[in-house]
Amino acid sequence: MLSPALVLAFTLYASHATALPVVPTSTFSPAAALSSTPSYDWTDGYISEFTIHSSCNATERHELSFGLEQAVLVARHAKEHLLIHGNESVVYQKYFGQGPTAPVIGWLDKIATANRAGLIFRCDDPDQNCATQLGWAGHHRGSNATSETVICPLSYTSRLHLTALCARGFVFSTGKPNTYWAADLMHRLYHLPAVGEGEVDHYADTYADLLSLPQGTNYTNAGKNSASLSYFALEAYAYDISVPGEGCAGKVEHDDHDYDVVSSTVTSAATITMSSEFSTLISATPAVAAATTSAAAAANCHTHDDGVVHCS
Ligand SMILES: *[C@@H]1O[C@H](CO)[C@@H](O)[C@H](O)[C@H]1NC(C)=O
Ligand SMILES: *[C@@H]1O[C@H](CO)[C@@H](O)[C@H](O)[C@H]1NC(C)=O
Ligand SMILES: *[C@@H]1O[C@H](CO)[C@@H](O)[C@H](O)[C@H]1NC(C)=O
Ligand SMILES: *[C@@H]1O[C@H](CO)[C@@H](O)[C@H](O)[C@H]1NC(C)=O
Repeated sequence: MLSPALVLAFTLYASHATALPVVPTSTFSPAAALSSTPSYDWTDGYISEFTIHSSCNATERHELSFGLEQAVLVARHAKEHLLIHGNESVVYQKYFGQGPTAPVIGWLDKIATANRAGLIFRCDDPDQNCATQLGWAGHHRGSNATSETVICPLSYTSRLHLTALCARGFVFSTGKPNTYWAADLMHRLYHLPAVGEGEVDHYADTYADLLSLPQGTNYTNAGKNSASLSYFALEAYAYDISVPGEGCAGKVEHDDHDYDVVSSTVTSAATITMSSEFSTLISATPAVAAATTSAAAAANCHTHDDGVVHCS
């Protein structure tokens, strides 16, 4: 169990974005003596909410705001999971091997806490990709508008909320984490230079590939791999909150233990089997062809496990 002090610390931390702790000044402090100088508010410019563009209608706005809240929730939870368990977390070891936790904590905090000023989600189709690119659920506007993300209508009919995590037969070994708003929007946020800083990138996208990304002491790419960060955040939430102490990792061939895919044994990730009882449900998510009608626009795109194309 958490000590009450730790719970309090996290509660304060989680709420600090809106209510920063006020430091009492004593009568004789130098700060008090200087208080007649023009005040400098170091938090000036901090915006705690993402901007949802006026092109989003009422229901799109609700879905998107709720989805973004869930992306922030799982990122914050995963960060706190690491602050408590460190590299002893079996979920952490599965995705990042022997790598240090601090870089991962930092990338998670970029989504959990960092300034959202100027980060815009829109629902119109300014680059005409929703209309012309088969199966696109959204895209980063790239050089057309580096802080803007377009969410296409397909997202609103295919994304799930966190309440469905570990339900409906979903397991990580065979499911599509990007089916959940939380993981999908974390990935989209990392495409924004203000969030991913051009460092978080697509080093491995399929589940088997990202599990084999950390190799011994060669773990650097795992720690800044977009899908590793979002899948880890979703699975930490599944393990701690959705089904406490169990999660829904799914089975790996050759071993009954859900978490045998740690550190150097991850090379066996490629042997992950499909659980036939769940495959029907999982393939019922929009399985779309990667076919595109514009090779130029597709240049910076990649197909995820969920079959939906995402673009940088
Ligand atoms: C966890 O970190 C410690 C250093 O704090 C290190 O000695 C240990 O090998 C790490 N364990 C794993 C499984 O990476
Ligand atoms: C908003 O747009 C979506 C398409 O993305 C549509 O399905 C929905 O009915 C619209 N909502 C309203 C209230 O018009
Ligand atoms: C480290 O892993 C990456 C792939 O993740 C690979 O390209 C690179 O060659 C590896 N480096 C070493 C020194 O093994
Ligand atoms: C940027 O705009 C151009 C011109 O409208 C378009 O061809 C291109 O596909 C757009 N880029 C992205 C990433 O949508």
